[in-house]
Amino acid sequence: TTPYSLLILPGDGIGPEVMAEVVKVIDWFQANRGMRFDIGHDLVGGAAYDKHGTPLADETMARAQQADAVLLGAVGGPKYDDLDFSVKPERGLLRLRKEMDLFANLRPAQCFEALADFSSLKREVVAGLDILILRELTSGVYFGEPRGIHDDNNNPENEGGRVGINTQRYTSGEIRRVARSAFELAKRRGNKVCSMEKANVMESGILWREEVQWVHDNEYPEVELSHMYADNGAMQLVRNPQQFDVIVTDNLFGDILSDAAAMLTGSLGMLPSASLGAKMANGRPKALYEPVHGSAPDIAGQGKANPIACILSFAMALRYSFDQGDAAVELERAVERVLADGVRTPDLMGPDGGTPVSTVEMGDRIVAALAAGK
Ligand code: NAD
Ligand code: IPM
Ligand code: MN
Repeated sequence: TTPYSLLILPGDGIGPEVMAEVVKVIDWFQANRGMRFDIGHDLVGGAAYDKHGTPLADETMARAQQADAVLLGAVGGPKYDDLDFSVKPERGLLRLRKEMDLFANLRPAQCFEALADFSSLKREVVAGLDILILRELTSGVYFGEPRGIHDDNNNPENEGGRVGINTQRYTSGEIRRVARSAFELAKRRGNKVCSMEKANVMESGILWREEVQWVHDNEYPEVELSHMYADNGAMQLVRNPQQFDVIVTDNLFGDILSDAAAMLTGSLGMLPSASLGAKMANGRPKALYEPVHGSAPDIAGQGKANPIACILSFAMALRYSFDQGDAAVELERAVERVLADGVRTPDLMGPDGGTPVSTVEMGDRIVAALAAGK
């Protein structure tokens, strides 16, 4: 069989630390499950800026377009905070998403039984939680034009004399395609979609609601659909998250709601994601897998980072890019067993004490759990 091509972009801060643990997991699957990966490594974010003066070199962009899947750690950090906007580390990630047209960002939030007492919310609110936030990833206010910071000199009432502009913009086509992904995902889960926007104050929200409803009525009438204002959605997400199955929402609301959902699982260090585009000729989607968390400068270089979000992102790659659903479940179960054994990176230290471990030890324990099997 031809190997799957995998481009690994560790990035900045804890990115390389958590990615090193994913590489161990990949090696295990190669050695024990007959999978073959053709792995390339490259730079993104601040690391790429340091070498090339740009957060994503054209050559890296081209490699990403060719890969069966891209795995990304995290980008950004204080060292780069004062850089010109156009070369900030985050721009490298946004360019990958945009040019690969990865419009569907799947952010599952699952609460493992072993962590049900670790959430800042009560056990009975989060135990057994399994929801999926589907975030539109290539449009909206992140990319809308016009944008920029301008002088506003002929407005004497504006103290400071400047204006910052971003534009929330969605086409019906952009909304319909992500809505289709939401209904397709829901059919394989709880058959329920809740769409979130602010149709009460934004025209783009009205269009969002109408187009999601249109896709539902014309193509997926058998899936249960509801609509909610995103501010209420944020409240409902912490009040009673188990009322949801799939939540579909725009780029900015999805960013915020998924960080909030992270706390339902016990730690931001637990949340994986898959960013998928349209299917290619070989039937696979263009795909980038990345943890939801960032480069965590406050703990970088200290061996404290939780690698589980990045490892579970690789499980999503097994499922969505490589047709290895069984292997994905195998990996998720291994993570679950390690957590059940009380193995804890510092972000997971909670009421039960547990065994404190470093990033590297957590990776080793997960590989050992894979090797030990059920
Ligand atoms: P962050 O996600 O990096 O960190 C938020 C908090 O969560 C920190 O206290 C951090 O220590 C903790 N945390 C995050 N991941 C963890 C892990 N795996 N294990 C243990 N603890 C973890 O968010 P931030 O501090 O707002 O941003 C830092 C930088 O990361 C910024 O430059 C930001 O732009 C960037 N960022 C990048 C991505 C990405 O690459 N996808 C996502 C979010 C933020
Ligand atoms: C995320 C991050 C990114 C975003 C940044 C780093 C560009 O917060 O992936 O959630 O805002 O999309
Ligand atoms: Mn975010």
